[in-house]
Amino acid sequence: MAWGACTLLLLLLLVVLGAGGGGGGGVHCLEVTRSRRALQRRHHLRSRAESGATILELRHHGGGGGGLGKSGERSREEELGGLFSSDAARVSSLQRRAGGGGGSWAEDEAAAAAATGRVPVTSGARLRTLNYVATVGLGGGEATVIVDTASELTWVQCAPCASCHDQQGPLFDPASSPSYAVLPCNSSSCDALQVATGSAAGACGGGEQPSCSYTLSYRDGSYSQGVLAHDKLSLAGEVIDGFVFGCGTSNQGPFGGTSGLMGLGRSQLSLISQTMDQFGGVFSYCLPPKESESSGSLVLGGDTSVYRNSTPIVYTTMVSDPVQGPFYFVNLTGITIGGQEVESSGFSAGKVIVDSGTIITSLVPSVYNAVKAEFLSQFAEYPQAPGFSILDTCFNLTGFREVQIPSLKFVFEGNVEVEVDSSGALYFVSSDSSQVCLALASLKSEYETSIIGNYQQKNLRVIFDTLGSQIGFAQETCDYI
Ligand SMILES: *[C@@H]1O[C@H](CO)[C@@H](O)[C@H](O)[C@H]1NC(C)=O
Ligand SMILES: *[C@@H]1O[C@H](CO)[C@@H](O)[C@H](O)[C@H]1NC(C)=O
Ligand SMILES: *[C@@H]1O[C@H](CO)[C@@H](O)[C@H](O)[C@H]1NC(C)=O
Repeated sequence: MAWGACTLLLLLLLVVLGAGGGGGGGVHCLEVTRSRRALQRRHHLRSRAESGATILELRHHGGGGGGLGKSGERSREEELGGLFSSDAARVSSLQRRAGGGGGSWAEDEAAAAAATGRVPVTSGARLRTLNYVATVGLGGGEATVIVDTASELTWVQCAPCASCHDQQGPLFDPASSPSYAVLPCNSSSCDALQVATGSAAGACGGGEQPSCSYTLSYRDGSYSQGVLAHDKLSLAGEVIDGFVFGCGTSNQGPFGGTSGLMGLGRSQLSLISQTMDQFGGVFSYCLPPKESESSGSLVLGGDTSVYRNSTPIVYTTMVSDPVQGPFYFVNLTGITIGGQEVESSGFSAGKVIVDSGTIITSLVPSVYNAVKAEFLSQFAEYPQAPGFSILDTCFNLTGFREVQIPSLKFVFEGNVEVEVDSSGALYFVSSDSSQVCLALASLKSEYETSIIGNYQQKNLRVIFDTLGSQIGFAQETCDYI
C-alpha cells in the first residue's frame, strides 16, 4: 500500500520534476539506477540457496543479443580495468581522510591544482561509472547525480563551465534560476566547508563581498571546483529551500554522464544534515543488482512501511571516530564463507566504512587473505584463472553448467548478520565465464580502513539512521522496474 504511494512519487519525479507540491506522508522515494547501462553483460542466472551455498545456473551467452567480437571484448575489459583503477584510487583517497593524515588532503588539493585544466590520464573508461545515480530537481531544472555516502557536499556542474566532464542533459544554469544565490565567505556554510575539506586556503575569492569557493579532489586527478551556492532542491515533490551545494565550473573525473554528486555523508553540509527537519536524519537505499532495466530506491525519511524487505531489519551501532569526516563507520566483527566463520586477528580493528560510492569491498590484508583462503578451499573444484585489476582470485568457469557459490556473510557488532546477495559474490570479467573473480579486494596495509562497497550491498535495504546512530540491513529485492 505504502509502496504504491512511493511508486507514484517516483513517477511524478520523472514526469513533473521540480514542480513542487506536497510529498505527503513524510516518505520520499527517488529512483536509483545504474548510470551505465549494460556494461557488464548479464548471464541469465537462476539462483537458489542451499545450506550455506547459492547455486547459480550458468549458461553460454550464445547467439541472441549480438555478442561482442574479440576487439569489443578487449575494450570492455579495458573499460572495466579503468573503472577498477578509479575505484582503487577512490579507496586510497578515502583512506587518507579516514586515517586523518592532516597533510594528505592538502596534498590532494595540490594535485588538483596541478590537474586544473588538464585532462586526466587514461581512456574514456574514466568517464564511465559503475555507481548509482538519482535525479533531483534543482532550481528550475533537474540534475542526475551519483549517490555518495562518503561525500559531504552535493555539487553539480554549472554553466558557464570553464571545464566540464561530458554530461548528458543540460548543465545547471544559475542565471536561469531566480532562487539561486552564491554564499558569501563569511557565511556559516563556508566555515563548515572549510572544516569539511580541511582547507582554509583559497576558500575566499576577492571583491567587496567575496564568495566562498570550494575544491573537491580525488587522488586519480578528478576534481570539482567552483563556488558554494544555494537554491531550491526538490526531492520527489518535497522542496528544500536554500539548499547549499557546490556550483562547479571546473570539473573532471569518472562521473559518467552525470551532473555531479549527491553528498549523503555524516556531516554538516550533507543533504541529510540539511534536510534534518524534513526527514529526521534517516535515509535508506536498495541498490538494484542489474545494470539496466531495473531500478532501486533511495528513501529519505524513516518510515519503514515503504520498504519491501523480506527479512526483519537488523541494526548495528555506528562507530564514532575522532576523525569522523563524512564517513559511516560500523564495527565488522566477522565474516562467514559458506557458513564457515573466517578466523583473522584483523577483525579487531573494528571500524569499517559503509560506502555507496565504492564499488568493490576492500578489506585489510589479514582479513582478505583469510577470506580468500576459505573461499578457495570451498571453491577448489573450479580451475583458477589469472587475476584482473584489483581482483586477484579468479576462476575459469567455462563449461560448467552449474556453479555452487559459497554464501558470503558480514557480521557486525551486536551479532548482526548480513548475507551478501548472490550477485555480489563474483564479478564476471569476461562474458564467456572464462574469468570470473571473487568480487573483493585487499587493501595495501593493515592500518588502512576496510570499506564495504556497493557491489556487496545489492538487493539489501541499507538504512542510515544518523540521529539513532545506527545502520540497519534487511534483504530486499531491488529491481522494481
Ligand atoms: C558578511 O559580510 C557582509 C559585508 O561585509 C556583511 O554585510 C554581513 O553582515 C556579513 N555577514 C555575516 C554573517 O557576518
Ligand atoms: C567491536 O566489537 C567488538 C565485539 O563486540 C568489541 O570488542 C570492540 O571493542 C568493538 N570495536 C569498536 C571500535 O567499537
Ligand atoms: C577455460 O576453460 C575452457 C574449458 O576447460 C578452456 O577451453 C579455455 O581455454 C579456458 N580459457 C582460458 C582463458 O583459460
